[in-house]
Amino acid sequence: MYILRNGKKGEIIEVNEHDWSTFKQKLNRKTGIDLDLYKEAQMKRRINNLVMRKGYKSFTEYLDFVAKDKDEFASFIEYLTINVSEFFRTPEKFSELETVIIPELLQRSPRLNIWSAGCSIGAEPYSIAMILDEKTPGVKHRILASDLDVDILNKAKTGIYSDNELKAISLGRKQKYFTKTADGKFAVSPTIKSKIEFRRHNLLKDSFENNFDLILCRNVVIYFTEEAKDKLYKEFFKALKPGGILFVGGTEAVLNYRDMGYENHRPFFYRRPLK
Ligand SMILES: C[S@@+](CC[C@H](N)C(=O)[O-])C[C@H]1O[C@@H](n2cnc3c(N)ncnc32)[C@H](O)[C@@H]1O
Repeated sequence: MYILRNGKKGEIIEVNEHDWSTFKQKLNRKTGIDLDLYKEAQMKRRINNLVMRKGYKSFTEYLDFVAKDKDEFASFIEYLTINVSEFFRTPEKFSELETVIIPELLQRSPRLNIWSAGCSIGAEPYSIAMILDEKTPGVKHRILASDLDVDILNKAKTGIYSDNELKAISLGRKQKYFTKTADGKFAVSPTIKSKIEFRRHNLLKDSFENNFDLILCRNVVIYFTEEAKDKLYKEFFKALKPGGILFVGGTEAVLNYRDMGYENHRPFFYRRPLK
């Protein structure tokens, strides 16, 4: 047993390294999630809190238990991957996307190839689909939306949301693109749904497509190690067309973007140069 000081004042977690390492191996075998590519102290703290709260003595004991129960396991993966999201998240950034970035991209490619990487409940790709439906009615763009977590992808495909998840959406869009369900939720319209291609994809493991005009990867890398983030942003660079844009989350500025070949188009939007 050894003691991990994880940087939070006064907080000490006792972790059995053998237990942690067995837990990581089992999890990787079962799900393909490699915790070595995530920030160790934060992941240990987060999982440890859960294991203690549930009353288990070790990480592996907890994993062996949840692995037997499909619903428990799904909520564990949800907890681990943190998939809160909402439509038009950070509205001022979405507004820049809508009024500056997308019109620029459309000038070069009338049919856009877009990837929402780490799409969670689908709010992000559906928001993009609404913008494109308004800007280019009838045009068939491609919107790929991927996530590691299969259960969250199923929620995304179902497309039913709470009022809270729609809080940044205008009333006009709410009326145009959603219908109210019997239990007071909001179902996204089949037309918008049909515009998205959902796929399970692990950003730290699976291979990438290329030729994207726009990649959104927002609020996904928070627990990735610096090395894993660097590798990811380099892969995104290759996956973008020349002139294509990478859009990251509001706390995820890429400080070494120049070393990877990007230009800083405007804060949180990085461009692969045209040449
Ligand atoms: C907080 S949500 C972000 C959703 C959306 N992009 C947004 O900004 O609202 C983070 C998502 O990243 C996904 N994720 C975490 N690690 C991943 C990985 N290695 N590969 C793909 N998705 C991952 C999680 O499953 C989760 O749904």
